[in-house]
Amino acid sequence: MAYDIIIANGTVVSAQGQEQADVAIQGEKIAAVGKGLARSAAGATVVDATGKYVIPGALDVHVHLELPFCGTVSSDDWNTGTRAAARGGVTTVIDFAIPYGKESLEDAYNNWLAKAKPKACVDYCFHLAITNWDRHGPEMEKMVRRGCPTFKEFMIYASEGWQADDRAIYNTLERTRDLGAMLLVHAESSRVLDELIARHHTPEQMEKHGAQLHAVTRPNFIEAEAIQRAILWAEVTGGTLYIVHMSTAEGADIVKAAQARGVKVYAETCAQYLVLDDSVFARPEGHLYACCPQVKKPKDQQRLWKGLNTGEVCVVSTDTCTFTREQKARWNGDWTKIPMGLPGLETLVPIVYTHGVLADRLPLTQLVAKCCTNPAKVMGLYPKKGVLQPGSDADVVLLDPNKKIVVDHAKMETGADWNPYQGWELAGFAETTFCRGRKIVEDYKFIGENGWGQWLPRERAGELV
Ligand code: URP
Ligand code: ZN
Ligand code: ZN
Repeated sequence: MAYDIIIANGTVVSAQGQEQADVAIQGEKIAAVGKGLARSAAGATVVDATGKYVIPGALDVHVHLELPFCGTVSSDDWNTGTRAAARGGVTTVIDFAIPYGKESLEDAYNNWLAKAKPKACVDYCFHLAITNWDRHGPEMEKMVRRGCPTFKEFMIYASEGWQADDRAIYNTLERTRDLGAMLLVHAESSRVLDELIARHHTPEQMEKHGAQLHAVTRPNFIEAEAIQRAILWAEVTGGTLYIVHMSTAEGADIVKAAQARGVKVYAETCAQYLVLDDSVFARPEGHLYACCPQVKKPKDQQRLWKGLNTGEVCVVSTDTCTFTREQKARWNGDWTKIPMGLPGLETLVPIVYTHGVLADRLPLTQLVAKCCTNPAKVMGLYPKKGVLQPGSDADVVLLDPNKKIVVDHAKMETGADWNPYQGWELAGFAETTFCRGRKIVEDYKFIGENGWGQWLPRERAGELV
């Protein structure tokens, strides 16, 4: 058999197990996985993976690249964002195409495609944000047929013009049921959140507590109530619901109970909720860490790690939404003006590997499940993505289990001039990354090109089997 590339002698890791094997690539696809392939390697380029883990390219199914938000535009664009992805071993990203003003879902999709296509270095697709049910609801079927079966609604962000109410969520879930689609929801309880913000929004409180008010005004029940409510609408409609960036122990308990009742609800958490807690807001530059929802308490971290092990949390993503120091400085002492979001694409796998696998919180197979296989399945990209098997895209990542790198924003691909993990020693950066058979990271350095990434059509979403 003629192969182009053989990744030889590595430990190939799947969501089910690990074995010593070779991975053969032909063109953009995996041609074979098995022992001894390198022996018949005539003409193939052999990549020695001795002592390395060989995993499927990770999927970050929650990113916001060059997003107009909080009065500015997130600073990682489709160039720096997807370069960062590659270096972190992420070969597929899913962004959120959001209609502005009177735009349709189709307009939003076209706008996002125009931004992504010339720049993307890894593969990509979009969730479509429904910001006006009456205008966007009737478009859902057409957009599913066009290859976009995941939709998004925000229970907050009225000031951005993005907020969806219960009527919209109820209607959208009904439609997802009929279309084989899935609704992703940002679950926070907006009326009570606004009330708590108003109570604390005084010069005295801001002077005294600074960025800590971001956490004070978002107690865990803000997320818990909204998750509970969204789950009720999923339960009564039979629609498929995916809770994005779940950050609380209470949320995990509610999701677990609903899954046990047979509700079709999935939950994702993000790397930052697993390793950061709200003590960061007391730091001199605590405002930099503001994201939405904010990082919570150590007990929430523990519950989320548990949820990854027991299954109610099925995906780890990043919610990458990068803002520079200058952008974050817009806050000027008022926490409600902080552009909310963190860089993350480059450190997703390293965080889960170092603080999950090496810290004995998560088996390596579960890293593959939560960062590769499950996101591909639930978003309708499996088995094209998320698995190393013949016929799948040749998205392959080599990790050196012993190589640690100290995080330094100045040496990273992300455009951020700060990093929430600055100075942390992390293992699990991609030594080598292949995206559809093309090497895009070598010896920890990005060597890919803009425009290599392709948009990925999907037929349906919402199944983990
Ligand atoms: O802080 C965040 N998460 N910014 C992006 C918008 C969102 O809610 O995901
Ligand atoms: Zn959100
Ligand atoms: Zn987000």
